[in-house]
Formats: sequence, structure tokens, C-alpha cells
Amino acid sequence: MSNITIIYGSGGGNTELVCEKVAEVLGAKNHKITLLKAKLTKPEDVGDFDVLILASPTYGHGQLETYFEKFFMSFQNADLKGKKCCTIGLGDMKYDSDYLIESANIIEEFYKEKEAEVIIRPLKIAKSPIPHLDGLVAKWAEELSNLI
Ligand SMILES: Cc1cc2nc3c(=O)[nH]c(=O)nc-3n(C[C@H](O)[C@H](O)[C@H](O)COP(=O)(O)O)c2cc1C
Repeated sequence: MSNITIIYGSGGGNTELVCEKVAEVLGAKNHKITLLKAKLTKPEDVGDFDVLILASPTYGHGQLETYFEKFFMSFQNADLKGKKCCTIGLGDMKYDSDYLIESANIIEEFYKEKEAEVIIRPLKIAKSPIPHLDGLVAKWAEELSNLI
């Protein structure tokens, strides 16, 4: 059993649905889940974890979601060296490839700088996640569960 913290931003609710599904699947595998909205979270609210999942959609031509970005900026001094981390990024295929799901790249770059241990490929979704919650999203969460 691992202690998993998920911190997400979600302007329109898609990323929230994805994170809730990931939390549900991991919870059913007996992991302990802390699901935090970036809007209501400060770095000091983030307790101990075995695995950290940061999740943000992409807005404004390749930017993080506003509240997630605020949290992310305040989290820049976090010590993630050797910590197990993973990423969820959302976007939309209609955006230019330079901006497409850029949120996932920003988070992955952060982990690299922090020398975190990225344990699985990012979950990237460039369409409405609703038809994919029980498929793509649940599968990713199960794969993650098998790695921890
Ligand atoms: C104003 C606006 C800007 C967006 N910019 C991008 C973008 O630059 N790149 C991208 O891949 N998706 C972009 N998107 C698509 C969103 O990331 C996508 O709809 C996502 O599912 C929204 O997640 P949320 O409901 O959790 O906020 C944009 C959407 C809106 C409404």
C-alpha cells in the first residue's frame, strides 16, 4: 500500500474527472489517496507521500491552468529528489503541436530539474476524457498501481 497525493487544477472539470477516476482505481487497490485541488492547496499542506501525481490541463497557448500554475510556482522549492512522481496532462488536438498538452511537458521538466523519479509515462489526453475514464484512464492507474 502506498501513500499517494494527487494535486490538480481544472478550469472546466475534465482534469478533475480524470483525477477522481485515478483516485478511485488506486483507492480500490488499497492505496491511501489524498486528492487536493491546487486552488485550495499551499505547499505546506502537502504532507508526506510515497507517490506524487501533478495534474493540469493546458490553457492560453501552452500554459498551465491558472490555479495550478499558482500552486506550481509556490512549489518550486519542493525537495522531490528521488521521490516517485507522475504527471497527468490534458489538452485538445485542435491546438498547434507546439502547445498541445504542453502542461505535461512543463510538469515533466520540473521533475527532471528536481531529480525526481518519474515512474510511468505521463497520462496525456487531448480530447474529452469522459468516454475514456473506464478505458485509457483506468488502465493507466492500474499500470501505475503495479509499479508501486
Ligand atoms: C481558452 C482555452 C485555451 C486552451 N489552450 C490549450 C492549449 O494551448 N493547448 C492544448 O493542448 N489545449 C488547450 N486547451 C484545451 C484544454 O486543455 C482542454 O479542453 C482540457 O480538457 C480542459 O481541462 P479542464 O476541464 O480540466 O480545465 C484550451 C482550452 C481553452 C478553453
